Amino acid sequence: MNNLNNKKILLIICGGIAAYKSLEIIRLLKKNGVIIKTILTKNGAEFVTPLSITSLSQSKVYQDLFDLENEAEMDHISLSRWADLILIAPATANTISKLANGNSDDLASTVALASDKNIFIAPAMNVRMWDHISTKENIAKIKTYNYKLIGPEIGDMACGEYGAGKMSEPEKIVNEIKSYFENLKIKNKFKAIVTAGPTHEYIDPIRFITNKSSGKQGYEIAKSLSKKGFDTTLISGPTNLELKDDFNLIKVETAEEMFQATLNSLPADVAIFSAAVGDYKVKEIHKTKIKKQDKLNLDLEKNVDILNYISNHNSLRPKLVIGFAAETNDLEYYANIKLNEKNCDWIIANDVSNKKIGFNSDFNEVSIFYKNSKSEKLNYKPKSEISDKLVEKIINHLN
Ligand code: CTP
Repeated sequence: MNNLNNKKILLIICGGIAAYKSLEIIRLLKKNGVIIKTILTKNGAEFVTPLSITSLSQSKVYQDLFDLENEAEMDHISLSRWADLILIAPATANTISKLANGNSDDLASTVALASDKNIFIAPAMNVRMWDHISTKENIAKIKTYNYKLIGPEIGDMACGEYGAGKMSEPEKIVNEIKSYFENLKIKNKFKAIVTAGPTHEYIDPIRFITNKSSGKQGYEIAKSLSKKGFDTTLISGPTNLELKDDFNLIKVETAEEMFQATLNSLPADVAIFSAAVGDYKVKEIHKTKIKKQDKLNLDLEKNVDILNYISNHNSLRPKLVIGFAAETNDLEYYANIKLNEKNCDWIIANDVSNKKIGFNSDFNEVSIFYKNSKSEKLNYKPKSEISDKLVEKIINHLN
């Protein structure tokens, strides 16, 4: 399925040697059925001509803010409203600086300022300009304004130097835009819940029973889901992990809190239970600190099995329920038992006795056991890549 067909993209071409690549961007977008309008800045026109742009885009090139004819036909506000998405490629250091400061002294910067659409920018500049602290600050600023960056890449530059600042290749730019529209479709469509990390089952106000789970794999899964456009809620036990991505994070401590948070986050299309939930809790938590001389007998009772509860209640059960099995031995045997007993669609199993993977490692190696088909293995790779692969499979399944 081509997500770009009939999408309206406003391409802004600024003045840099990489402007010649914009012609290839236009060609690729057209090939994908995109309707293009173009703004060419004054400096951009030093590198590519309006004629070559029009020939490829088959539409008019807008150049001046105060062009009577254009304003009558489509003023700068309408132009910014017309687009489904705006792409600035190449985006020069000067244009980025204007965006960061809200300047509007030409058509390109005015349209960007007046726009309520997603704006992608593909920077292109000399490595020293890219590395300059002012550019870094401008980039950090425009990210907070929700501009989306594509590249730049590291490589040989037209000026003969080498480093970061090279505009991404047209294929990459077009692919990023494709996946933006793909994600948009998923966003409107799918909701995901992920549980992650350990739980703390309190004995007294300062002591608890816990386990070695770092939460890394669960966080990576939530990130991959969010990146792919899922409306994602991550319900996390106590971890040391930071989250910069834009999704709901609900922090909990105990299994009971994780259970309630999960119930409150339903309904969902997919739920991934990666948390290492404490199987037991202390029946009566001491109200005050237990003293050494006290006689200590821990009376434990079972915690609710969150996964089991949700997958066995039809009214709560997401379409796709994925459990985890962290085992030290007989992986396949236990994974299959959990698959059946917990009524999962998939179980992701890993061998936590292997120090190179599992708890606290940034790497993992897992086997996926399916309810209705043969199991498969995802070989040793970073947890982030395991997550991306997993999310690909989730999308295929849900679609
Ligand atoms: N799980 C859960 N709630 C619990 C215990 C486990 O949701 N109270 C989920 C985990 O998030 C995981 C799956 O059940 O997806 C399996 O967890 P695991 O700890 O491997 O299995 P247990 O059922 O606890 O069995 P055992 O400890 O005997 O291996």
